[in-house]
Amino acid sequence: MRHIAGIIGSPVGHSLSPVFQQAALEACGLDAEYQRWETTAAVLPTRVAALRESRYLGANVTIPYKEQVIPMLDELGGQSARVGAVNTIVNRAGRLLGFNTDGPGFVAALREQLAFDLAGVDVLLIGAGGAARGIAFAVADAGARRIGIWNRTADRAARLAGDVTAAGYRQVFPLPAPPVTADYDLVVQTTSVGMDGGPEPGGAAPGLDGARVGAVAVDIVYAPAMTPFLREAGERGLRTLGGLPMLIHQGALAFELFTGVPAPLDAMFDAARRELASRQAEAPR
Ligand code: ATR
Repeated sequence: MRHIAGIIGSPVGHSLSPVFQQAALEACGLDAEYQRWETTAAVLPTRVAALRESRYLGANVTIPYKEQVIPMLDELGGQSARVGAVNTIVNRAGRLLGFNTDGPGFVAALREQLAFDLAGVDVLLIGAGGAARGIAFAVADAGARRIGIWNRTADRAARLAGDVTAAGYRQVFPLPAPPVTADYDLVVQTTSVGMDGGPEPGGAAPGLDGARVGAVAVDIVYAPAMTPFLREAGERGLRTLGGLPMLIHQGALAFELFTGVPAPLDAMFDAARRELASRQAEAPR
């Protein structure tokens, strides 16, 4: 039987997941196919229920369904219950298990690309949306000392800080005004500002004022590869990391949950980079 996995979301037309997940399946010699499932809210329950069939390995879940799928699942594993969002559904003999690999993917990307260890460091998160939630819990789990959260909508930052605190972490706090970054070892830009096709493609969220040389700045946006935030961070002498490694690592952790096989990271990176380069070559100038 040819196994199937796929990505559920709307829109998913530009998702890179089918590209690098298919490359991973092929690199491992697995007889399986990874599909792109554009899904309306009305058909979401049917789409998820179908995953119980034995030919399905599972699915990735993206915008806007990471929270909505939770009541459709049998069990939540890893961090997903605390985070309140699922990006990976695994079919285990007809039972659907939810996971969230976004945060662990972020931590893995930092470790692999920059040999950056989060134990004891002070972290500033810009943004408090779905992506920030996963990162906040993962960074806390990895031993960060203090986590400050600033968001355009202050209430949301307060809610996220409260949720991480309620999970047993101290020193997680919302920042009421645009932050001055001098106190932080790591600044993470988690908003959609600066993203191609996002609300402000050329914009940069605040967050680098006073940042010190040698601190690390991460933008989770991967298209464009050089965002305004990363450019400014580079000009200030910070070490920088774009969003592609996090994307690949969250996908690699999902791949391992689907297949039980170690993810072929190089093949996944190569496929994603090739696809991004060909999209850039085709983009109107
Ligand atoms: P995701 O799951 O990708 O994080 P999200 O949950 O919609 O998506 O969160 C988007 C994040 O980008 C939020 O922090 C949002 O800020 P608000 O909570 O104030 O909406 C932030 N964001 C989006 N557009 C923005 C803009 N133009 N300026 C500043 N922040 C913005």
